[in-house]
Amino acid sequence: MKEMHAEVCGRRESGEGIFVLALRTELAREITAGHFVNVKVAEVEPFLRRPFSVAWCEGDVMELLIQMRGRGTGILARAAPGTVLSLLGPLGTPFDLDALAEAPGVDLLAGGVGSAPLIILAAQLRARAPALPVRLFLGARTRALLPEPDVASARVPETMLATDDGTAGSRGTVLALFERHMRAGHIVCACGPTGMLEAVRKLAAARDLRCFLSLEAEMACGFGVCQGCVVRLAGGAYAKVCEDGPVFDAATLAPLRPGQ
Ligand SMILES: Cc1cc2nc3c(=O)[nH]c(=O)nc-3n(C[C@H](O)[C@H](O)[C@H](O)COP(=O)(O)OP(=O)(O)OC[C@H]3O[C@@H](n4cnc5c(N)ncnc54)[C@H](O)[C@@H]3O)c2cc1C
Ligand code: FES
Repeated sequence: MKEMHAEVCGRRESGEGIFVLALRTELAREITAGHFVNVKVAEVEPFLRRPFSVAWCEGDVMELLIQMRGRGTGILARAAPGTVLSLLGPLGTPFDLDALAEAPGVDLLAGGVGSAPLIILAAQLRARAPALPVRLFLGARTRALLPEPDVASARVPETMLATDDGTAGSRGTVLALFERHMRAGHIVCACGPTGMLEAVRKLAAARDLRCFLSLEAEMACGFGVCQGCVVRLAGGAYAKVCEDGPVFDAATLAPLRPGQ
């Protein structure tokens, strides 16, 4: 983990209140899918950074897929090209590409901007194991909240969409779509809102699926010092989302509670 400067080199709208921020930084060359960076938004507060999964890397350009929530993401949404940001990274324990590459197939379940660590995961798996079947199930409440479905389909050729209201793809949740297409032996990797991840965790336990979840938690330090980001494990112990995760084997987790 190191502190690096990154220059904003692009920005594009990706949905309602969702945008991609492209950053030029050498850190882009060190990312494994599931890693996150902690971005300083100095105008909001000088110490508490904002964590974001790395969504794409090409050369020394890194993309973050960001949904506007509060002041920090609002300021990042207005960052002009040339703005220099401070990043800490790569942070966290990413996906285990070796284990995934040996599976008969990998199914990626994304809720909204939860697609961020999964699309780069598909690309890194393709580079490692070109014949591995990788499918992306991407869902949101409505079409406007689906982040860049065209980019997702271009980057993961086998992409299926779902919206709760049926305005794009199948009507219903991404989990319902996935259940209709489940394949024995495929490993599931999921990222999205906590309620969705808890439903995926339960399904994986009930159907005996190997499953990895990329979790979120409110974070202060982002690298294991403050204990501000813990998640409860199945045995009753706690783990730090920033250091032991954000990617966890779903079988090791206790039921997830929103806002934990
Ligand atoms: C490992 C990790 C990866 C993440 N990756 C992404 C990503 O790829 N794209 C993306 O849009 N967001 C991601 N997030 C969430 C993102 O960090 C928060 O949305 C952001 O910090 C909010 O900052 P803000 O200043 O705009 O909001 P604030 O003003 O701080 O808060 C606004 C709202 O956001 C909620 N919030 C604040 N921090 C978090 C948090 N860490 N997780 C969940 N909710 C939070 C608050 O409870 C509040 O409701 C990730 C979080 C983690 C921990
Ligand atoms: S955010 Fe400080 S220990 Fe995880």
